Amino acid sequence: MRKLRRDEPCWCGSGKMYGQCHAEWDKKIEIYRKKFNIVPPHGIIKNEEQLQGMRESAKINVAVLDYVGEHIHPGITTEEIDEMVYQETTRMGGIPAPLNYEGFPKSVCTSINDQVCHGIPSADVIVEDGDIINVDCSTILNGYFSDSSRMYMIGDVSESRRKLVQVTKECVELGLKQVKPWGYLGDVAQAINDHAKENGYSVVRQVGGHGIGLQFHEDPFVSYVIRKGTGMVMAPGMVFTIEPMVNEGSSEIYVDDKNDWTIYTDDGSDSAQWEIMVHVTDNGYEVMSW
Ligand code: MF3
Ligand code: CO
Repeated sequence: MRKLRRDEPCWCGSGKMYGQCHAEWDKKIEIYRKKFNIVPPHGIIKNEEQLQGMRESAKINVAVLDYVGEHIHPGITTEEIDEMVYQETTRMGGIPAPLNYEGFPKSVCTSINDQVCHGIPSADVIVEDGDIINVDCSTILNGYFSDSSRMYMIGDVSESRRKLVQVTKECVELGLKQVKPWGYLGDVAQAINDHAKENGYSVVRQVGGHGIGLQFHEDPFVSYVIRKGTGMVMAPGMVFTIEPMVNEGSSEIYVDDKNDWTIYTDDGSDSAQWEIMVHVTDNGYEVMSW
C-alpha cells in the first residue's frame, strides 16, 4: 500500500488524519515485520465505529446465552434450544449467524459430551441428566458479527465432566491474560495448552479461533497448539475469539460423514469448549462477549 501523508484520511476509515490515527501503529508494525514476525494486515483492524457496532452485536449474543442458561434443563431437545436462540436473537433485532452459513441448517451449534463442536440441533436429540453441552451462539447486528459459547452442565454431572468443563474455562482465562498489544498469539496458545496438559487433557489442533467483526471468520486463525513467541503479533484494533476445544483423552477428532459438520473425539472421550471474543486495546484487552 502507498505510504499515506500525515494529513490524509487514515486507512482505518475513522475519518481522522493518518498522522493522528494509525501512523505510529504502522511504524511499530514495521519494526516487527522487519524482524520476520507475522503482523496483522490493515484489513482486520477495527476503528471505533466498527468496535461500537460489534459491542452492540455482542450484547445480544451474551443475552441469548444468558437466556439459554435460564431455560436449559434435562429433557429439552437441542431443537428447542435452537428455537430459543432464533426467537431471542431476532426479538432483539439480530440474525443468528450460523443459519445457512456455508450450508449449516440451524441457528446455533449444540455439542454434547464427545461432540467437539458443530453439533446440529435436532428434535431427536434430548439433553439428558449428566450431560455436558456446549451452546455456540453467533450473532449479526447491522452487519457486525459476534460469537461466543458456553458449557452447560445438565443436572447431576460426574466429577470428571465437571473438572473438564472447569479446566477448559480456566484455559480461556489463562489465555486471555496473555492478550496485550505486541505480544504473540502463541503466548495465548501456550498458556492454554500448558494448562490443559497439566490436567492430563489435550487440545484440538485442526479447529480453533478466528478474527471476527465484518465477517464471521476473518484472519487470523487462532491456534492453541503453537508456541509462545510465535504466530501473529497482537496489535491494537484486532478482535478475535479464544475458543479452545479440550478433550479428556486424545486430541484426535473426526467429522460425522452423515452431515459433514459435527466433529467428535476419535476415542469417544468427552470434550469441552468455551468461547470468548476479545479486542486488543492500547494497553491490554477488552472482552466483548463471554
Ligand atoms: N463459533 C463457531 C466457529 O467459529 C461457530 C460455528 S457456526 C457454523 O466455528 F455455522 F459454522 F457451524
Ligand atoms: Co467462533
